[in-house]
Amino acid sequence: MEVLMSNWSQSVESLPENYIFPLNKRPGNQVFPVWKNIPLIDLETEESQNRAAIIKQIFDASQEFGFFQVINHGVPVSLMDDTMNVFKEFFNMPAEYKSSFYSTDISQKCRIYSSTLNYDKEEVHYWRDNFTHHCHPVEDHVDSWPEKPTRYREVVGTYSIKMRKSLLKILDLICEGMGHKQGYFDNELSKTQLLSVNHHIPCPNPSLTLGMPEHSDPNLITMLHQCSVPGLQVFLNGQWMNVEPMPGALIVIPGLQLKVITNGKFSSPIHRVMTDSAEARTTIGTFLIPSHDILIEPAKDGEGNLPVYRGYTYKEFFSTFTGSNCDADTALGCFKNKA
Ligand code: OGA
Ligand code: NI
Repeated sequence: MEVLMSNWSQSVESLPENYIFPLNKRPGNQVFPVWKNIPLIDLETEESQNRAAIIKQIFDASQEFGFFQVINHGVPVSLMDDTMNVFKEFFNMPAEYKSSFYSTDISQKCRIYSSTLNYDKEEVHYWRDNFTHHCHPVEDHVDSWPEKPTRYREVVGTYSIKMRKSLLKILDLICEGMGHKQGYFDNELSKTQLLSVNHHIPCPNPSLTLGMPEHSDPNLITMLHQCSVPGLQVFLNGQWMNVEPMPGALIVIPGLQLKVITNGKFSSPIHRVMTDSAEARTTIGTFLIPSHDILIEPAKDGEGNLPVYRGYTYKEFFSTFTGSNCDADTALGCFKNKA
């Protein structure tokens, strides 16, 4: 069977057996509550006297819930729509074209794969294709990007630059809230920028499978751009809650490195993706990731708190994370200082 599910015929009548999760891992038929009061932060007034209030909102949201949505983030809604359309077109391109980017080798800087990087070994597959590539600085990577759809390089290039700018602005608000001067993160800590596009074709039985496993993001910070089809869930107060897409808004997900650098002030939310029976779902994630050899450690907070974590390189963290089956608690546990 063709590995990339977006290369299957678009109407799958029943869920293939190797996508059916064991009973204890299935989402089931229950109706999940919608998370209605997800913090919504308006960044428009960020330059004015409201800066302190916005910083407080970011810290409150990150401590209490782990993540938040932003509006007036500096990425024009028309550009967001254009980019989403380019990716929808990309996933509808002929099978041979998409397959030319197929690779499970993570050192390959522009690639498409299905389910997880463990496709060949996993017993059950997740219901997704993922297309991912590096994008900072754009000129260093653009030659590896698709040439079709024809607008791809222009639209995705502009989008990547705007997304980075917006994330760095949010990181500046965060470092100011930590008592550090602006630019604390604008260096090797955020050097690598990955675009990661998930695509899930309509699924014949969403109760039996998942579009993405439950996880925390291992990087520094993520910006998630959803299309209008729901699917994202966050684990809050012991239950899974649906995060409904809000047109024009972006979701900010603090990664595990932000949790460590803020010495646990920020949490990194556990989230997963459900599938949809009626419509295909596409989401665009922008990940800022530290350089491999940079030292990561809790920033001094001026409050005399002892560092919860010891210093390590991102390379060391990432290999521990993948070696712990991508379980955040297990991986972070390896870097905790003794109390
Ligand atoms: C991710 C992720 C959620 C989504 O890519 O890390 O959590 O809705 N994506 O696609
Ligand atoms: Ni994630």
